[in-house]
Parts: sequence; structure tokens; C-alpha cells
Amino acid sequence: MTGTNANTLPETLDLAEVDTIVARHGTARRALIPILQAIQNVHSYLPPEALQRVAETTQSSPADVTSVATFYTQFRTEPAGRHTIRVCIGTACHVKGAQNVFDSFKKHLGIPEDQDTDSDRTFTVEKVACLGCCMLAPAVQIDDLTYGNLSPAKVPGVLRDFLESLAREGLAAGAREIDGPPVGEVRMCLCSSCIASGASSMSLVIASAPSARTKSHGSLPAGIVATRT
Ligand code: FES
Repeated sequence: MTGTNANTLPETLDLAEVDTIVARHGTARRALIPILQAIQNVHSYLPPEALQRVAETTQSSPADVTSVATFYTQFRTEPAGRHTIRVCIGTACHVKGAQNVFDSFKKHLGIPEDQDTDSDRTFTVEKVACLGCCMLAPAVQIDDLTYGNLSPAKVPGVLRDFLESLAREGLAAGAREIDGPPVGEVRMCLCSSCIASGASSMSLVIASAPSARTKSHGSLPAGIVATRT
């Protein structure tokens, strides 16, 4: 359960959508969790108006609905940021300082201790178990980008690189609208091991193909690697 975010955005909620979800799962109290899961799948959190509607249209009381929504960590009662930073705290990352990396993200984004989202709702920071790339420990995933070998000092560079990559992808998307959709995608790992084995020169060859459009991650801070997952 996340803390209160003071910068709550107004949201227009389609209550008919809530009614449809309730009709699908039924009004019994045992249906409450699936109903809340379905609502959260739509909105990425549980808007208060939706919780009220659930209480009005099911056999669960407002207190039931509130207690379930606030008890289970899978549910959010505040909107998430547009991008999610997942800081791995699995064993390999933990022993290499993942908690300090987590704290550094929150500090640089100005997120208070009891909250997980920055004030303009650009980023939500959360802890996760193993991301499946323990060789890069400590590792972090921002949306579909993975950054490895992190330290608190590298966090500002990671945030800057991610935002720059968004800007580049926006430009690339604009180009695709003009030239037509891509027919395929080549994903290259640019970690230090792959670069040592020749990934850089291979990526240059691929990028030089007449029909290629690259999604480079630019100048990452030393020691940070990025790869599409
Ligand atoms: S423990 Fe962090 S990626 Fe596996």
C-alpha cells in the first residue's frame, strides 16, 4: 500500500465500467478481490469513486472495500507515475548496495519516505525481487530499459539517460510515421562483456544499413550498461 500523494490529479471515472466489472465477477464478498484487481488493471490504481461504487453495488460494505484495498500490497489507492523504476533488491543486488541505490532514486526525485511517486507523477519507484540479470547487480529496470552495475552516484546519470532515450524514441516514432512501420527489430546487448567481445563494432555495422533506424542509448555514464529486455 502506498502513501498519500498530495498532488492527486483529477480523474474522470466511467462508473458504467465499474458496473460491468461487478456484473462479470458477481456481488458476493468473495468476489471483492477480483473486482478490485480488474479495476486496478484499468486505472493502474483504485480511484475512490470506484471503491464507493463497488460498495454500493456489491454485498461488501464500504469498510470491507476499504480494508481490502488498503490491506493488500498489490493494490494502490494513489495513481502511479507514468514510468516505473524497479530497483532489484534480490540477494545479488542487495549485497552490492541495492538499498542505497533505491534511496538515491527517491532522494534525487524528491520522493518522501512514505511515498513512492514524485510530485509531477513522472516516476514511481518500487522494490522488486530478482530482475533476472544478477550479473549486472545492482540492477534497475525503468519501464523496459535495464541499467546495471549501479551505485548511488550513477543515479542522476541513469535518470538523465532514460529521459533522453524517451526524447529520442519520440523523434524516431515521428520518423516512422513518415516512412512506414519497421519490419523488425535487432536488439543488441551493450554490457561490458558484450562490448569486450565486439558488440560495438557489430552495432555500427547494423546501424549503417540503409534501412536501419537505431535506438541508441547514447553516452551512458561509465560503468552503466543498458539493454532492451
Ligand atoms: S538479484 Fe538483482 S537481478 Fe537478480
